[in-house]
Amino acid sequence: MGAGVHAAGLRDRRVLVVDDELALRKSLAQCLEDEGAEVVTAEDATSARRELEKSDFDLVVLDHRLPDGTGLALLEEQARARNPATFVMMTAYSSTEDAIRAMKAGAADYLLKPFDLDELVLVAERVLENVALKSEVSRLRARQAGSSGTAAIVGRSPAMAELRALVERVASSGARTILVTGESGTGKDVVARAIHACSPEAARPFLEITCTALPEALLESELFGHEKGAFTDAKSAKRGLFEEAQGGTIFLDEIGDMPLSLQAKLLRFLESKSFRRVGGLRPIQVDVRVIAATHRRLPDLVAKGLFRGDLYYRLDVIPISLPPLARRPEDVPDLVDHFVRHYARELRKECAGFDAEARARLAAHSWPGNVRELRNYVERAVLLSRGPTLGVADLPPEMRLAGPPAASAPATAAAEGPFVLPERGIVLDDAIRSLLDQSLVRTEGNKSRAAALLGVHRDHVRYWVRKYGLERWIRRRASASDAPKAEAEP
Ligand SMILES: Nc1ncnc2c1ncn2[C@@H]1O[C@H](COP(=O)(O)OP(=O)(O)OP(=O)(O)O)[C@@H](O)[C@H]1O
Ligand SMILES: [Mg+2]
Repeated sequence: MGAGVHAAGLRDRRVLVVDDELALRKSLAQCLEDEGAEVVTAEDATSARRELEKSDFDLVVLDHRLPDGTGLALLEEQARARNPATFVMMTAYSSTEDAIRAMKAGAADYLLKPFDLDELVLVAERVLENVALKSEVSRLRARQAGSSGTAAIVGRSPAMAELRALVERVASSGARTILVTGESGTGKDVVARAIHACSPEAARPFLEITCTALPEALLESELFGHEKGAFTDAKSAKRGLFEEAQGGTIFLDEIGDMPLSLQAKLLRFLESKSFRRVGGLRPIQVDVRVIAATHRRLPDLVAKGLFRGDLYYRLDVIPISLPPLARRPEDVPDLVDHFVRHYARELRKECAGFDAEARARLAAHSWPGNVRELRNYVERAVLLSRGPTLGVADLPPEMRLAGPPAASAPATAAAEGPFVLPERGIVLDDAIRSLLDQSLVRTEGNKSRAAALLGVHRDHVRYWVRKYGLERWIRRRASASDAPKAEAEP
C-alpha cells in the first residue's frame, strides 16, 4: 500500500488489474493509465499472487471468475496479510450475491459487469480517497496514543523526565533494537509499552514473551513459528510471534535467560531481518521493532559465557536503564497518589490517600522491590481501608514498626557492616528497638526465630517486646495468620 496521503485521483498510483479476458484487461489498463496510474496486469490467480508478492499495490481490480480459482478466494487470502492491498471486485452476471460476499471478505467496493470505464475511474478514485483518509486517522490516533504513552510513566524526578523524553525520541527514531535494563519492578514493561504506544506503529501489534516461561524448543517455535511436521506435535504450520508482530513491536522479556542457541538465531534475525520457521527452508522477511529487557547485568553474563557478547553489543546500541526507586525518592509521593487513584477506582472505594505520618514512612522506606512493591502496598492498603484516609496503621508491619524515619538510621548503618561507634555516640535503646523490629518483621512476629536472628535468648526478646509495647502487634500477626484456618472449620 502506498504511504501517506496522496493527491486525489489515480496519478502515480500502482494498480493491478486481474482478469482472464485479454480485451477487457487491455481496455481497463488503458483507461487507468490515461488517468496517470501505473498498471500491471495478470490473467489468473497464480500470476496475480506472484505480482502481489513481488511488490506493493495501492489498488487491485479483481475479476470474480478466474481460470484457476475465484477472485473471492484470492481476496480472502490477501485480506489475511499484514498489510493488505485495497480491492475492488468485478462481478459478472449482475450477481449481487457475489458482490456482497466480496464486500464481506474485505473488498473496498465492487463493479457489476458490464460497467462503463467512467464508472471504474469513479469507484477507484473514491476507494483510494477513503484509504488515504483512514491512514490519516490512524496516524493521528497513534500520535494521540503517543502522548498517553509517556503519561503512563509516573514520577517527577529528573530521571523520569529524562526517561519520558528518551522514550519519545526512541519511538519516533525508527530504531529497531532497544535494550531496557533495571532491577525487578522498576518499570521495564511500562517503558516497552510506552515506546510502542508513542511510535508511528502504535496501531500495529505489540507482542510480548517472557524467555523464561517456556522450554527452549517451545520458545523457538513460539518466536519463529514452525512448518507442518517440524516435530511430532506440529500437525499444521504455525506463524511465530515475529511474523505476527509484522510492522509492530515484539517485547522479549528476561532476555538474559534466553538459551544460547536461541540467542544465535535471534542475532541472525537482527542482522538479516529474516528467519526460517522451525523445520522450514524458506527465509521469511519481517520488519519489527525488538525491545529486549532484563533485570540481570548482561556484561556479567557475557563474562561468564552465559550470554553472547555479539548479541549483547547488537542489543546495547540503544540502552535504556531504569534506576531503582530508592535512588529517586521524589517519585514515591507521585507513585503513591497514582496507585491510590488507580485502586480506589478499580476497587470502588472512596479513598483520599495517606496522611502525613504515613507519607513520611513511605518516603523513608528503601523499596527493595521497587515500584512493584510500592504498588502492592498501596493496593493492600486501599483494599483493607476502613475510612477515606489511610494512616500508618494501614502500612505493612515493616513500615508500621520502623518508627519515625530518623530512628531507623543507626540500625541501617549497623546492619551494613561492622558496628562502628559514631563520633557523636548513639542511643543504644533506639538501636535495640530498631533491630528488634526488623527481626520480628522478618520472622512474622515469631519470638524464637527473632531471638535466633539477634543471637540472644528468647526471654530477651520477650522482655524487649513488652518494654517497647509490641505485644499487641505480635498478637495481631498471630491471629491474622490463624484466622483463615479458624474460619475454615465451622
Ligand atoms: N514509572 C512508573 N510509573 C507508573 N507505574 C510504574 C512505573 N514503574 C513501574 N510501574 C508499575 O510497577 C509495576 C512493576 O513494573 P514493571 O512490571 O514494568 O517492572 P519490571 O521492571 O518489568 O519488573 P520485572 O523485572 O520483575 O519484570 C507495574 O504495575 C507497573 O505498572
Ligand atoms: Mg517485567
